Amino acid sequence: MPRVLFVTSECYPLIKTGGLGDVCGSLPPALSALGVDVRVLMPAYRAALAHAGRLQRVAEITIPEMGVTAGVLEGQLPDTHVGLWLLDWPAAYDRSGNPYLDSSGTPWSDNAQRFALLARAAVQIANGRVGLAWQPEIVHAHDWQTGLVPALLAPQPVRPATVFTIHNLAYQGLFPYETFRSLNLPDSLWSIGGVEFYSLLSFMKGGLTFADRITTVSPNYAHEIQTPAFGCGLDGLLGARADVLRGILNGIDHETWNPATDPHLVQPFTFEHVEDKKANKHSLQIQLGLPAASTLPLIGWVGRLVEQKGIDLLLDALPELLRLPLQLAVLGSGEARFEQALRTAALQAPDRIAAVIGYDEALAHRIEAGADIFLMPSRFEPCGLNQLYSLRYGTVPIVHRVGGLADTVIDGNSENLRNQRANGVVFDAPEADALCAAVKRALALYREPTVWRSLQRAGMEHDYSWRHSAAAYRDLYRELVDGRMARPA
Ligand code: ADP
Ligand code: GLC
Repeated sequence: MPRVLFVTSECYPLIKTGGLGDVCGSLPPALSALGVDVRVLMPAYRAALAHAGRLQRVAEITIPEMGVTAGVLEGQLPDTHVGLWLLDWPAAYDRSGNPYLDSSGTPWSDNAQRFALLARAAVQIANGRVGLAWQPEIVHAHDWQTGLVPALLAPQPVRPATVFTIHNLAYQGLFPYETFRSLNLPDSLWSIGGVEFYSLLSFMKGGLTFADRITTVSPNYAHEIQTPAFGCGLDGLLGARADVLRGILNGIDHETWNPATDPHLVQPFTFEHVEDKKANKHSLQIQLGLPAASTLPLIGWVGRLVEQKGIDLLLDALPELLRLPLQLAVLGSGEARFEQALRTAALQAPDRIAAVIGYDEALAHRIEAGADIFLMPSRFEPCGLNQLYSLRYGTVPIVHRVGGLADTVIDGNSENLRNQRANGVVFDAPEADALCAAVKRALALYREPTVWRSLQRAGMEHDYSWRHSAAAYRDLYRELVDGRMARPA
């Protein structure tokens, strides 16, 4: 079975800002269950050190190009048998809070150094130079933070194969030329065929240009990113590499997100007892200070408050939405302008809107369970996990037909309802009017209990676990190992 080194900047439950953390926390154990020998490498952030359990310092990695010697702390991904290595360089990683941003929401000024160090350390582990008695056949890197890994490995005649997964093409890790210089990266990388992107250093391009295989997190997004509308300037490059690009739909952790066993819920439930959902709605309404109206549809929202997620569409739609019989529960953090607008909206309509600004894992579970409907009007969405959690919790999603949302949510039109495939409501234009029309359609379906139950059934009875997709990654690894042009010595 292939030996795979996962390199990532976040991993639940050690640290998480979004779906990347969920995926890097749940895919490795799923791969391990299939027999893949997978180990995870991540920075030793303060939060990760606090949550990782027992760790042992097992190696030192000297990075001459950066004048740094970092430690390797070994442990296990909590509640799994997956090996974990935390890269310990306190000057860069031992900070409180977010892995990418300081407390004012500005990117840490040394992010390029922090993630270049992660990449250089990964390369040394990949080359078996650290004394860990384990060498990967595949290095699987995730998002821009690890984009330099394939770029640094590519020129070596003997090396592991590389897989680079795009979780979000919009975040590219762009830095000025001076940063490229200060990182002591090979001169040969500074070209259009390398990591240069309009005179900037692009970490993302390192992954896209040099990885042996590129994956992204849904089949639809794999197509979209080859078009100018979604390609973020990299559609040409991705089109040129289409032969090695593949969309593999994310799975979810069926244990962490299981309405029958979720410890955050006041009343666990299954489809057979979906009426037990009501107790969760009631307790959520009380917790959020909303009137405990059992028949009024409660619409939930959980996510980063950024344009990607279409939060501005929701804000634009609010006046119209407030004319409808519904309540809204929002949990999110992100851009200050959106946080402020939500706070104001909740103050103006306290009986209808509750807004919790912040990051709260337990509340996220309680909204998924307690809401009737989940709103996800993203402008683009590589996969999206929240709609999958919603489907599993009998909370009917309303989504914009884009990326992974289009791959997973099946519209409640008459034909799909007739053949019992429908599991949500899908709208086509990223506009407030279209969003309102979709909400009205969902409310009409909600008023028909049998129809609503069939939407819930389609979501709750479907398998969104990693079963299929982890096997797709395993097959990809096998393909690479079997057809290897150069194996580690
Ligand atoms: P993205 O990765 O683009 O943010 P996903 O839908 O893939 O979007 O994943 C988001 C993950 O982050 C989900 O697990 C969601 O519950 C979680 N999340 C986002 N914002 C918050 C928040 N404010 N509090 C708790 N969990 C959050
Ligand atoms: C990104 C995307 C999201 C995806 C997640 C995990 O953050 O925005 O759509 O689900 O990564 O792959």
